[in-house]
Amino acid sequence: MQKNIVIESSTISAPKKNVVVVLVNEDGKSAFEVEKMVGKALVDRIMKVRHFKGDKLELVDEVCDGKKGFDRLVLIGVGNVARLQGDDWVKLGGATFAALKDSEEADIYLTVAGEKLKEQSILDFILGIRLRGYAFDDYKTVLKNKEKKAKSCKITLQLEDEKAGKILLERANSLADAVLFARDLINQPANILGTKEFVKEVEKLEKLGVNVEILDEKDMKKLGMGALLGVSRGSKRPPYLAVMQWQGGKTKDRPLAFVGKGVVFDSGGISLKSSGGMEGMKGDMGGAAAVTGLLKAAASRKAKANIVGVIGLVENMPDANAQRPGDIVTSMSGQTIEVINTDAEGRLVLSDALWYTKERFNPKIMVDLATLTGAIMVALGSDHAGLFSNQDDLAHNLIKAGLETGEKLWRMPLNETYDKLVDSKVADMRNSCGRHAGSITAAQFLKRFVGDTAWAHLDIAGTAIESPLNEYNQSWASGFGVRLLDRLIQDSYEG
Ligand code: BES
Ligand code: MN
Ligand code: ZN
Repeated sequence: MQKNIVIESSTISAPKKNVVVVLVNEDGKSAFEVEKMVGKALVDRIMKVRHFKGDKLELVDEVCDGKKGFDRLVLIGVGNVARLQGDDWVKLGGATFAALKDSEEADIYLTVAGEKLKEQSILDFILGIRLRGYAFDDYKTVLKNKEKKAKSCKITLQLEDEKAGKILLERANSLADAVLFARDLINQPANILGTKEFVKEVEKLEKLGVNVEILDEKDMKKLGMGALLGVSRGSKRPPYLAVMQWQGGKTKDRPLAFVGKGVVFDSGGISLKSSGGMEGMKGDMGGAAAVTGLLKAAASRKAKANIVGVIGLVENMPDANAQRPGDIVTSMSGQTIEVINTDAEGRLVLSDALWYTKERFNPKIMVDLATLTGAIMVALGSDHAGLFSNQDDLAHNLIKAGLETGEKLWRMPLNETYDKLVDSKVADMRNSCGRHAGSITAAQFLKRFVGDTAWAHLDIAGTAIESPLNEYNQSWASGFGVRLLDRLIQDSYEG
């Protein structure tokens, strides 16, 4: 069960909860008002006895005698505050919450010595608390000792500017809800979350003012989406294309479009994958989950931009009716594709989704997200997602948002030499071109479906699933992309 975290804000006042958290900088200093409330002598003594320096993410957790009204004091180091960057504050929030995991209440003094915290830092800290609090344990009927946690945790954030704090708290909570929504979608097994069930989740966004349209098999046949539909043929699950629209900008403004790969399970199809690790292919809809999470985030904060999300939902299964290697399919664009490998299905789904999005919306930018290739993990591991783009401004804006959020991107090349590799002997192109430069040839394939649109492709196979655990992520699915793209919109395309 997910821990229920209730956070409220207050101006700096005496602690009322039995656990107290204080931030300490690299000079060993905490904010003056906090020292007054908590007791400077106590803080100093703990620092001395435990050799606590206040380095970034250093943490001590001490039992107190209760004379001040609280039983535990947690000190967390923030290091040199001016130098904190990227997701440092998210990590600080996450590490703090980890220390609180078995307590039911805490006062957190979210203030540092000698400087006023930036709004973004406060927001990030709260976000870190919420993201760390997430656990996907819906299906555990018995929790072992290690997994047992307090059912809820009531946190009071003690802030210098409580009024601003309330707004930040609301914003952090809604962004956290969006990230956790994406994590939940990805973590759910494919027997529970098929294409229909995914559509139901998308429709929940209507409550937030998102316009949702669902195209079914018949609609897509009419549009000629032979590439997407080919992937779906082996599955009993019906294919869908979900179109989400948030109109927060001027009516005439061209929208920002986000397109997601939503393969609810990728067995490989007739080019069946080997069994080792195949269970992870329940997360092959990580791109679609990120796009859906992004729309939730943007609508919740009433982003001042027109945003479109398009996700292709299919299941890739072997079956008598499944498409075969050697089949030639015709995409909505009219271009034909030789299916060399039915396991290179993501690009088939995206080709029709990208073309549809470009044709219908003429977007200002179009960014697709997909757990597209194993090869991107060979190249970049899990620390960066691969970025491919036909437009430098968009690429730079994305890279910047990545550095700011800690959802980092590394730009990979596109050129005509790589493009040639995609050519087929019998059709306009082939969906698999050998082992070399596997992520690049996949991106070159997609590029043939975006025309002149300013476009970027994010290969998130290494970052969205089986993600590395850190201070604010202990989940198999990280929710990668939601924070990144929300920031991209905010920094570069809003207002
Ligand atoms: N969904 C996979 C890529 C993937 C692999 C994502 C591992 C996350 C973890 C994709 O559909 C796929 O199977 N790609 C093939 C392409 C190849 C057949 C050209 C791959 O990467 O091996
Ligand atoms: Mn595949
Ligand atoms: Zn796949």
